[in-house]
Amino acid sequence: MRTLWAGCVGLCFISLLTAVSGELRLASYYGDHMVLQKAPERAVIWGYGTNNTTVVVSLSGLSNRNTYRSTVRDSIWRVTLDPVKAGGPYNVSAVESGGSDGKIMITDVMFGDVWLCGGQSNMAFTVSQVNNSLAELALASKFPDVRIFQVALETSLVELTDLSGVSVPWSVPTAHLLGGGDFTHFSAVCWLFGRYLYQTLQYPIGLVESCWGGTPVEAWSSSRPLQKCGIPQTPKSHDDFKEDEPLLLAGPKENSVLWNAMIHPLLNMTITGAIWYQGENNGNYNRDKYSCTFPGMIDDWRMAFNKGSGGQTAADFPFGFVQLCTNKQSNVPDGFPEIRWHQTADFGYVPNERMKRTFMAVALDLHDAASPWGAIHPRFKQDVAYRLTLGARAVAYGEKGVSHQGPFPSSVHVNGTYLILTYDQNVFATPAKDTFEVCCSMEKVQCSSADIFWISAPMVPQDPSTVAVSLGGCAAEHVASLRYAWKDWPCGFKACPVYSADRVLPAPPFVLHRWP
Ligand SMILES: *[C@@H]1O[C@H](CO)[C@@H](O)[C@H](O)[C@H]1NC(C)=O
Ligand SMILES: *[C@@H]1O[C@H](CO)[C@@H](O)[C@H](O)[C@H]1NC(C)=O
Ligand SMILES: *[C@@H]1O[C@H](CO)[C@@H](O)[C@H](O)[C@H]1NC(C)=O
Ligand SMILES: *[C@@H]1O[C@H](CO)[C@@H](O)[C@H](O)[C@H]1NC(C)=O
Ligand SMILES: *[C@@H]1O[C@H](CO)[C@@H](O)[C@H](O)[C@H]1NC(C)=O
Ligand SMILES: *[C@@H]1O[C@H](CO)[C@@H](O)[C@H](O)[C@H]1NC(C)=O
Repeated sequence: MRTLWAGCVGLCFISLLTAVSGELRLASYYGDHMVLQKAPERAVIWGYGTNNTTVVVSLSGLSNRNTYRSTVRDSIWRVTLDPVKAGGPYNVSAVESGGSDGKIMITDVMFGDVWLCGGQSNMAFTVSQVNNSLAELALASKFPDVRIFQVALETSLVELTDLSGVSVPWSVPTAHLLGGGDFTHFSAVCWLFGRYLYQTLQYPIGLVESCWGGTPVEAWSSSRPLQKCGIPQTPKSHDDFKEDEPLLLAGPKENSVLWNAMIHPLLNMTITGAIWYQGENNGNYNRDKYSCTFPGMIDDWRMAFNKGSGGQTAADFPFGFVQLCTNKQSNVPDGFPEIRWHQTADFGYVPNERMKRTFMAVALDLHDAASPWGAIHPRFKQDVAYRLTLGARAVAYGEKGVSHQGPFPSSVHVNGTYLILTYDQNVFATPAKDTFEVCCSMEKVQCSSADIFWISAPMVPQDPSTVAVSLGGCAAEHVASLRYAWKDWPCGFKACPVYSADRVLPAPPFVLHRWP
């Protein structure tokens, strides 16, 4: 403002006056090139203004000319638009009457589906870091209707009303914005998910990235689910996390600080759903509570977004996530198998009765030992995003005939020398020496992850939907549990023993217990 003032007369004087007397502005989330949620939901628009004045919002566009009024209370005004079908561009203007006569307008606003992308470093991982990045970046300009927005990295000890920072304002994608430096902007999984979705839906997609490397689920959760799950106060020392992460990825760990600063301010927007890539930082931190905290966070976000949007964002909005990929090839336990299981609320698959309207991209076969950012950051995000998109099409959009779940056992029986495993679908199976294991125990109890009684159980394919798992020398009556792919790094690249018949979807890992 000072520069403008110094360099001009007349016009700049007016803009300076407006800035001083008029408080009228939109919340920081709104801006040129944005995507507002399309019909049947109604988009919420809010901002700040002069107390007791009326703000009139209008939408000028191809065929729509409605106006909406709101009285400013506690310096905040808010309108809910009528449903607008997908498309655009529109201009949205807000005029304050009876006060400062302030006026603002945002242009090139599209209506489409808005998706929130959250998590830690594998969500922050940018398009310039993925395999084949040059070709991916070159495609940016071909998708002008997939718009991006990124929340700045901020923490807060209290719930914020508005974002305290924006890292990428709403933008039409460019190679520069998608490849703006390692772990900065823009998320490859978020972008590729949006792009693949656009190719199916053919209408605008708005992507809101709000994630931070090296963060546990507790930082992204309000106190409600944390209390329900009995999560203690945040540890004082970051050493409690036992993670050897580079400084850039050592995000905040304190309970709720990212919920407060990077999620709470977004609640009053209308969104379609959310995707999430996180869990690595819980491998050694509140790991055994993750089957409570993760589904608990999803429930709480759903409740809060629904309430904040005045009922516009669905109370059960679709929530997709990436099941952890791999980290270490050694057998040092790092909690990855347990977190993968807990990500499904210990069902092994989603959606399930605890986690309704969720979808999951299994990623344990997409490892990348040679990644320049460490094996914990695999570069093959295209497959991850593609598998997520299949889940979104089936679960969020109800598209018929889209398979999105890898094979899961529907029954197991012992025939003397083998466990005969029948899957819920036909499988592409290859013999495996040690990906299946049985727990051979004379005690009629559930075997734990670390039990010493686990032994390799070689598997051979049988019928189109069954495999036979040998008991590995265990007497049939002593087989207490059976598990699959229960290692950090269980199989070769896209070479796990069990896939869907079309070889696209890997079977998720599981553990099944004989005794209750
Ligand atoms: C705004 O309206 C409220 C409620 O009608 C009133 O109490 C208050 O005095 C008004 N404030 C101003 C600055 O006019
Ligand atoms: C939006 O505003 C811009 C700048 O004033 C104008 O050029 C454009 O025609 C407007 N578009 C619509 C759809 O009203
Ligand atoms: C607007 O009203 C709220 C309470 O109604 C008050 O706390 C705030 O100071 C007022 N803002 C201004 C700029 O007068
Ligand atoms: C990496 O990208 C190249 C294209 O440059 C592609 O041929 C190859 O299959 C990709 N690798 C993996 C493992 O996806
Ligand atoms: C957002 O929604 C919540 C819950 O309805 C409400 O308490 C809060 O005032 C809203 N904030 C804004 C800025 O409209
Ligand atoms: C058990 O199943 C295996 C593998 O299908 C088969 O070779 C074997 O004959 C079966 N044994 C019995 C007793 O049915």
